[in-house]
Amino acid sequence: MATILISGGTVISATGRQLIDVLIDGETIVALIEPGSSTLGTDLAGNVDKVIDATGKYVIPGGVDAHTHMQMPFGGTTASDTFETGTRAAAFGGTTTIVDFAIQTPGQRLQETLAQWHEKAAGNCAIDYGFHQIIGDVNDESISAMGELITEGVTSFKLFMAYPGVYYSNDGQILRAMQKSAATGALMMMHAENGIAIDELVSQHLKRGETSPYYHGVSRPWQLEEEATHRAIMLADVTGAPLYVVHVSARQALEQIATARGRGANVFAETCPQYLYLSLEEQLGAPGFEGAKWVCSTPLRSRAEGHQDELWKFIRTGDVAGVATDHCPFCMVDQKELGISDFSKIPNGIGGVEHRLDLMYQGVVDGKITLERWVEVCATTPARMFGMYPRKGVISPGADADVVVYDPNGHTSIGVEKTHHMNMDYSAWEGFEIDGAVDTVLSRGKKIVERRTYLGSRADGRFVRRELSQNLI
Ligand code: URP
Ligand code: ZN
Ligand code: ZN
Repeated sequence: MATILISGGTVISATGRQLIDVLIDGETIVALIEPGSSTLGTDLAGNVDKVIDATGKYVIPGGVDAHTHMQMPFGGTTASDTFETGTRAAAFGGTTTIVDFAIQTPGQRLQETLAQWHEKAAGNCAIDYGFHQIIGDVNDESISAMGELITEGVTSFKLFMAYPGVYYSNDGQILRAMQKSAATGALMMMHAENGIAIDELVSQHLKRGETSPYYHGVSRPWQLEEEATHRAIMLADVTGAPLYVVHVSARQALEQIATARGRGANVFAETCPQYLYLSLEEQLGAPGFEGAKWVCSTPLRSRAEGHQDELWKFIRTGDVAGVATDHCPFCMVDQKELGISDFSKIPNGIGGVEHRLDLMYQGVVDGKITLERWVEVCATTPARMFGMYPRKGVISPGADADVVVYDPNGHTSIGVEKTHHMNMDYSAWEGFEIDGAVDTVLSRGKKIVERRTYLGSRADGRFVRRELSQNLI
């Protein structure tokens, strides 16, 4: 494979920024070279196969989205992005690795479900991919299978305190899975909402004729996220399991996590751009059935209650470890419409795998986070947390050449007709304007996107066999 020099750009890492050139040989970054500082540097441009001019641009590690659901079965339908369409959209947005979820439903063997997800993804992905395993049936066999999966590079497991009768685990089951996680070093991921209480509220709203998408949010109040988060932290304390709470949207849940971290607990939070920008009032409360576009769980929270600003704050303090998308797209037609007269039948999920880097970069422009924190939450920490660092998540010799050249003078208009490549008939981010743009994307040294043109192919992505997490307090 070719040698490439990315010259003239500013390399951003989690710890700083530096005007430095990046030399790639084949699939790997081999050197960082101070421009003009050495004979090697001066001569290099003439000796490499390709030069990418990044003058005036940022050079960042490819995004790592640790939470996606391509073609996920949910609520009688299937998420509308396949591994092919979803990973291509991710590539357009500068994400070069996803970690998706293999799903066990009751009665299935864990290994069998992982094999099914391998089959869906293999040969279809535009970028590299790994899997977490959802355990929907915690029993002796599943717990024993966790050890086997770890040896196959699936080193994190998700449990649900929500969705009784579907993926739900009770406290005893959670405790048992966490004990195994503590014994093996695997990371326990938690969907922390009190699903039993939520289901009761849902049926009360429906009985009163409150059927619109707005009530999806109202029936999942922050107290039931805070309570479940606290319970998960306590169960993790008892067992010694490392805990990663996914898609946190309530500031009170984050306060629980911050408090636990303050006393040294091995607990981490993930949030998503939708919880930073969107709200119960504006999106879920949109007229008619419009709000269905933003039905996801945990739900969007009230702006009047100040969750969004607090979440940005917790990104700054470090209590939010990573920002993922929870990409789980459904079209309005035939999918979200399943719940036209009953919000509880709207498939849960928002599509956004394409826009995470841009939306978080807008946080830099708006002065909410630094460039370094942008890179840290979008790439470096997810790579570390999920056992892929330093292959992924950093521009450093020896790392995979997953590199994004990001143009701070570019502009991105988000919308279904404009920049959107996800397989959705609407955009949850319609009308958002970003003061920056993805310019060039390399995946293991191959240029797969250049100025909004896709140059990759369907089978470029490879399965990433992950190590145990380097999750540290
Ligand atoms: O609404 C959501 N989040 N859908 C995807 C499934 C999950 O709980 O992550
Ligand atoms: Zn979840
Ligand atoms: Zn999810």
